[in-house]
Amino acid sequence: MDNVSQTAVFAAQVRAAHSLLDRHPIFEDPYALLLADSSEDDVRDLFSAIPDGVARVARVLPSQRARFVDEEVERAVRTGIDQYVIMGAGLDSFAWRREDLMSDLELFEVDHPATQAWKRMRAESVGLECTSNLHFVGVDFSIGQQLSDGLTAAGFDPLRPSIWSWLGVIVYLTVEAVESTFGSVVQMAAPRSRLIASYTVTKDLMDSASREFDDLARAASAEGDEPHITFMAPGDIEKIAKRAGFADVRSVDPSSFLPWFSQRTDGLRPVSYEWILVADT
Ligand SMILES: C[S@@+](CC[C@H](N)C(=O)[O-])C[C@H]1O[C@@H](n2cnc3c(N)ncnc32)[C@H](O)[C@@H]1O
Repeated sequence: MDNVSQTAVFAAQVRAAHSLLDRHPIFEDPYALLLADSSEDDVRDLFSAIPDGVARVARVLPSQRARFVDEEVERAVRTGIDQYVIMGAGLDSFAWRREDLMSDLELFEVDHPATQAWKRMRAESVGLECTSNLHFVGVDFSIGQQLSDGLTAAGFDPLRPSIWSWLGVIVYLTVEAVESTFGSVVQMAAPRSRLIASYTVTKDLMDSASREFDDLARAASAEGDEPHITFMAPGDIEKIAKRAGFADVRSVDPSSFLPWFSQRTDGLRPVSYEWILVADT
């Protein structure tokens, strides 16, 4: 990929949309528009062109997974973990959004070099500082060994436990690339480490609005550079993660996020387009 990932830009725009268009957001990303080089009007225009049910899925999906990970990272930091690897980071703004946690972390952002270069350019142009504990690691997950080599070169310590996230990426990879990336994580992650990965489930596990979102997203992605190719049932991805060497794996059904939505009067609820794998070493 030679250009910034358009799906990374879209994910940031929809994170911003949740705060712009919904009262009492479950997750807020104040840097999303700056990093995506987008305006509030761009986001409103984008959403006015999408059917309402699908637009709701688009607004909730990246926010629910980001909130889940933020809470996991908070917990990890409280137990003394001081290395966080964001795989397929896109325009994730953790480095600036969570200054409270950054003071205790070495953060490794892993992504395609072109997307990283664009993000760094955007960060610089809007005055977001890249502190010395923020490390950029350019990797293509479909090429084995790049992840471990890149992290080692960036100063990641495989002897200290770590926390990892991998959000919204698996759908773009082959099953082989997913398994080999799991293997690289296991190779680099000391005991007491955890990976949190979102994955798009098979259609039978999706709610009806997620199925509609999937129809549109698949069609749109097939026309661009980032086609959706991998959909998995929880049992299948858990088996792959086990085979790659994780000691303990479980899937999180997003319906367990319902308490975050309990006070709402606008009908927003968790969406089941993606589930989350939690894999421990
Ligand atoms: C939908 S975006 C998700 C970004 C971010 N995790 C989020 O939730 O906002 C997908 C990301 O995966 C990255 N990606 C996709 N395929 C990749 C590959 N083969 N190697 C490295 N990164 C990849 C893209 O560059 C992009 O940043």
